[in-house]
Amino acid sequence: MDKIALKDLKPGMQLATDVKAEDGQIILPKGLTLTENHIQELKKIGIASVYIDKGKQNTKIKISATDLDKLKQYLSPLFASNDFGEPLVRNIFYLSLAHLAQKYLNGWKIPDKRQHLPVEDGSFKDAFYKDEINFSLLVQKEVELVSFPDIYFKIVEAIKDPNKSAADIAKIVSKDPSLSAKLLKLVNSPFYGLSQKVETISRAITIIGANELSTLALGIAAVNVFKDIPEQLIDMKSFWLHSIAVGVFAKLLAQRSHLEQEKYFVAGLLHDIGRLVLFKHIPRLATEALLFSYANLIPLVEAEREVIGFDHALVGNSLIQAWNLPESLGQTIKLHHFPGKFVQLSDAIVHLADFLAIAMHISPKGSIVVPQLNKSIPKLINLSKEELKVLVNKALLEIEDTIRVFV
Ligand SMILES: [Fe+2]
Ligand SMILES: [Fe+2]
Repeated sequence: MDKIALKDLKPGMQLATDVKAEDGQIILPKGLTLTENHIQELKKIGIASVYIDKGKQNTKIKISATDLDKLKQYLSPLFASNDFGEPLVRNIFYLSLAHLAQKYLNGWKIPDKRQHLPVEDGSFKDAFYKDEINFSLLVQKEVELVSFPDIYFKIVEAIKDPNKSAADIAKIVSKDPSLSAKLLKLVNSPFYGLSQKVETISRAITIIGANELSTLALGIAAVNVFKDIPEQLIDMKSFWLHSIAVGVFAKLLAQRSHLEQEKYFVAGLLHDIGRLVLFKHIPRLATEALLFSYANLIPLVEAEREVIGFDHALVGNSLIQAWNLPESLGQTIKLHHFPGKFVQLSDAIVHLADFLAIAMHISPKGSIVVPQLNKSIPKLINLSKEELKVLVNKALLEIEDTIRVFV
């Protein structure tokens, strides 16, 4: 890392740290490869020098043409539901290819197709017959078994009460030591990139805000509810890795559009909880849907509609409603596989985040087929190739850090 004066900056150099304005606002993010426009922008603002990552200048992945071709042949069918005429899809495909090429050079092997498939050994028993099942019945069964942790509702109630202070709210949160510890870990992780360490919940409330902290508490509490699902039903490690990845992508996309980042992080984190309900109560049918998706190279959500009769997005929304959690969270979850036209980007963020995570191969075990990118998205978001690259690289780093909060 070298400190370089503005007059010596050249296009192609990569930022080693975020460039911030006096008020702490990030002007250009760490990892960005500078263009002439960026340099002019820095001149206008009056920044004197920036830190450059010299080792990463003009990094090129050195892979043989034969190996690259092998990776292309593996990746292309997974994108088959998508239109390569669409520049956003093309750019994401090539970023995915570059990501796999880097992994390949670090020892990752192209997986055998069967490696991704769950094993149905005949032991899975469904709680319902296929023709008697509907998503409300499933959710009803789940809610009878598990209620959502009371502490979240107590936090929300205290926030609404004008007589309660930040210290009162902090006292409620602190009653759950595991929740408090995870909240503090998240607040102190690169997720927020704070310069000083936050040691107490009341300090976290002051810095981040009570509403924002309660949203994060909701996400952490929901992850806890589902932590005991038996491993033989669904690979929980890959499930949560995917969920955290979608949360981080959604957070970065929300930040870029000046939307509330915690809300979209949690929506991303919980977007697939409907799948957990499916695996808990109808594991045989849920596995059949996965195998159907793989055999026909169609996205899992379509396979679920075909095999089960409804999809996990509907189940997820219905569960959020049954638990009396915020309606907008349920709506965002419901829309993450929406095939119609999105009218605003805020509704489409989790869909795009899910697409990006699966495209980068961070998907739950058995569902590596990249879903179809909703056709209305390219008109709603203006992401240049360079910006997309920065966003994806930033997300890949943050995902690793955020996982540590939850494990
Ligand atoms: Fe999904
Ligand atoms: Fe997903």
